[in-house]
Amino acid sequence: MVQKTRIALLLTATGKLLVSFLKKNYMAADNWQRVAVHINEIGFGNNQIAEVKLGGRKLCLAHHAGKLYAFAHKCPHAGGPMADGYIDALGNVVCPLHRYKFSMSNGHNVSGEGYFLRCWPVEIREDGIYVDMPRSRGWLF
Ligand code: FES
Repeated sequence: MVQKTRIALLLTATGKLLVSFLKKNYMAADNWQRVAVHINEIGFGNNQIAEVKLGGRKLCLAHHAGKLYAFAHKCPHAGGPMADGYIDALGNVVCPLHRYKFSMSNGHNVSGEGYFLRCWPVEIREDGIYVDMPRSRGWLF
């Protein structure tokens, strides 16, 4: 009887620790991180794309038609540097290596090769520009 109680207590404690770990690391509702206080701080190139660092990770910010977009700094096809690409007339970002095109809103590969460019929401708030990008958790995740 005592043995069963000890096992039950141990399982309960382990379960609470596991839930706490999962909540902290995987269910965090707030991944918004400030990337700049003002848009003028962002070093956009002539192509209106900038490569920036946020929480130790690189990403691209693009400025097009009065909106800001955030997406991966490397092309999902073969790692082309997206900051060296350009924005076409329809508002898609074009990779500089093989010219695959991606929607900056949702990452869809609009030129049809079947890839997906990772994108994150961007908000311009009173105190800065924020990107909803999960924080890096080190080498494991
Ligand atoms: S590396 Fe971007 S299209 Fe090939």
